[in-house]
Amino acid sequence: MDGDEINSGDVYADVIFLKVMKDDAEPIRRNLIENGFLRFDTTILTESDTVSFPVIKGISEEQLNFIQYPSATPVSISVKRVPLRPKKITNFRDMIDIPEEYHKFLPSSWDVVGEIILVKLSDEILPFKRKVAGALIDTHRSIRSVYRVIKVSGNCRVRELEHIGGVENTETTAREFGVIMELDVTKVYYSPRLATERWRIAQQVEEGERILDMFAGIGPFSLVISRHARPATIQSIDINPEAIRYLERNIKLNRIENMKFHQGDAALISKKLSYKYKFDRIIMNLPHSSVDFLPGALACSKRNSTIHLYLIDEIDRIDDIVKDCISKAWALGYSIIEKGRVNVRSYSPVQTNVCIDISVDGIS
Ligand SMILES: C[S@@+](CC[C@H](N)C(=O)[O-])C[C@H]1O[C@@H](n2cnc3c(N)ncnc32)[C@H](O)[C@@H]1O
Repeated sequence: MDGDEINSGDVYADVIFLKVMKDDAEPIRRNLIENGFLRFDTTILTESDTVSFPVIKGISEEQLNFIQYPSATPVSISVKRVPLRPKKITNFRDMIDIPEEYHKFLPSSWDVVGEIILVKLSDEILPFKRKVAGALIDTHRSIRSVYRVIKVSGNCRVRELEHIGGVENTETTAREFGVIMELDVTKVYYSPRLATERWRIAQQVEEGERILDMFAGIGPFSLVISRHARPATIQSIDINPEAIRYLERNIKLNRIENMKFHQGDAALISKKLSYKYKFDRIIMNLPHSSVDFLPGALACSKRNSTIHLYLIDEIDRIDDIVKDCISKAWALGYSIIEKGRVNVRSYSPVQTNVCIDISVDGIS
């Protein structure tokens, strides 16, 4: 490694550090990781108000600007000579002892939920599932359990899992942008892959907004918003009693005071709420069937409300689905327009997960 030196057993190197204000640190850390810019072989440095992230060599100023969120204060960049951690094998493909011809069937991604890894495996690699689990544990410092995802099913979108390595424990604590959330991965739906999306929504919330989270699960959207913005109130609905049990616990754990929760069908509860309240922002994160719940969301809206409608469908069908929503809303007396569209993640080779940001333009 260029410029590294060995000194009485320690390896030192000149490392580029990106200094940011502590309040901006979490989204920037995530962004650095997502873009592959963060160095893991040395320590993140913290001072009273700032955090300095070690970043890879060769990163351009343009790339660093790209990782900053609009709200982030300007960063400073400096080079410091620091000790490096001894090299560890970090790629689980290098650890795993299986015949070479099976390497092409190894998973290329998995979900880290607290101390648990959830991974989908192809049929070809199933005979080696315990080896896969062992290698994942060996290469992820904080992981204690690995479960194979068999399928996600039912209304509650709960995963059917098989324990394939580490300790058998399905309860864990996930962390997102300074929020902690307890959950049992066999009883509720939670995906860490939406963390950046939840942050995007939280960034849009203005002081005093009334928010409705129609499919809240254990509460990640509601909690991140409540923690990082200043809404007047958030009402969260979920049909799964277990999700509501964890949501209640997570509200207490994070000492949130402006959230209310309701267990039941969002179609019915939103209608009931609409007699009493109108909301500035409505989150509809049930991507396979959110469109069916549009009447309830519209009933809870007022002029200029924003609806975040999540969809999973074939890329080519999204435009038609949006057009259909606009005409259904029109028939109910609401004029809605698409304000923006964000690709949340690719879901399968042909399907995508998008968020349509809708504005309620008028109500007749
Ligand atoms: C895709 S998950 C999203 C959970 C959460 N928003 C998140 O980001 O992790 C959808 C949630 O909707 C809930 N759900 C499904 N049908 C529902 C309905 N008719 N009314 C209320 N909640 C429902 C499920 O229990 C599940 O927790």
